[in-house]
Amino acid sequence: MTPRPCVAVLFGGRSSEHSISLITARGVLRAIDREKWDVVTVGISTSGEWFLCPQEELERLLDENPIAELPVGEDLVSLPLKVGENELIVRQAGSCGETVTRDRHIDVVLPLLHGPFGEDGTLQGLLELADLRYVGCGVTASAVGMDKHFMKLAFEAAGMEVGPYTVVTDRQWALDPAGVRERVAALGFPVFVKPARAGSSFGITKVDRPEELDAAIETAREHDRKLVVEAGIVGREIECAVLQGRGTDPARTSMPGEIEIVDEHAFYDFEAKYVSQASARLSCPADLPQEATDAIRAGAVTAFEALDGEGLCRADFFYTPDGRVVINEVNTMPGFTPISMYPRMWAESGLAYARLIDELLGLAMERPVGLR
Ligand SMILES: Nc1ncnc2c1ncn2[C@@H]1O[C@H](COP(=O)(O)OP(=O)(O)O)[C@@H](O)[C@H]1O
Ligand SMILES: [Mg+2]
Repeated sequence: MTPRPCVAVLFGGRSSEHSISLITARGVLRAIDREKWDVVTVGISTSGEWFLCPQEELERLLDENPIAELPVGEDLVSLPLKVGENELIVRQAGSCGETVTRDRHIDVVLPLLHGPFGEDGTLQGLLELADLRYVGCGVTASAVGMDKHFMKLAFEAAGMEVGPYTVVTDRQWALDPAGVRERVAALGFPVFVKPARAGSSFGITKVDRPEELDAAIETAREHDRKLVVEAGIVGREIECAVLQGRGTDPARTSMPGEIEIVDEHAFYDFEAKYVSQASARLSCPADLPQEATDAIRAGAVTAFEALDGEGLCRADFFYTPDGRVVINEVNTMPGFTPISMYPRMWAESGLAYARLIDELLGLAMERPVGLR
């Protein structure tokens, strides 16, 4: 019998989306096909330690607290950085001192991390240095896909419509706040003030009046020193899941789904995403005219290719009352619990959760290491 390939599943991490990553990981670990894959589970604490974290421990933690934080485990893990060495380095502290083992061969890494230091190219860079195969976008695509400014530049260069926006750097806000306020006012209110590199709506405020702007800027700055301020767009929120094609096949797209915010004054904030199920309704397939469905699916592929994407991404759009398709953002490691939009859109399109995971791992295994 040929041994099953071994997947290192990474979860947790340093970003404010740590807890979301744990929920994603629980979903994936319950579904992953153990007949096909050997699994080693590695938690990353909010302060960046890597350690073995058995699935049962993750389950127990989330049973106690659905929005949990990983306590640091005892068996610390690091990656071998030498090309061709694929054995995890595990350090176990014991009564007779530390033992170091290197008997866990890794064939592929599944980084189920959202946000900075996980989804933004930094972790992908580490995996590249370690010469390990991994699921999802590479360094550049991850970095661009995390940055709401550079992502818009890439989309515009690919001919996509993005909404009006302005970028506010730390320096600009320190030296010329009046100039910043003027640039923002030129967009017209309401505006959305966002950290350039965050996720799960952390740090985002909808600002209806000029006098609320400074406070919103300070809130966003707690997450990132670089901000993007966008004109509010009136339109339906439509998302589409992208999956890389096998071999030289083109990227595949799911049926689009829709997020409907029940309270008309609110937006798809953290509360609506994870806390109050009643405040947002997710539906798939979205009830759209055929041309809009086609334009959104084509747009999702354009966005994926604009970033030079690999593996997967979820592309999020606004569909305006006059029929325009405006890209909002992409997520290169979207929420991945069984009820998250990305897997749900695939399930509705005929690719069930466990098979989707299999497909992503298969794509990563096919991919060469090194420059590609
Ligand atoms: N320019 C905008 N116009 C209207 N609504 C917006 C705009 N930008 C963001 N939103 C609302 O805020 C939510 C979160 O913003 P988004 O840019 O998607 O950040 P995140 O990366 O945290 O998901 C969106 O899903 C949408 O409901
Ligand atoms: Mg979003």
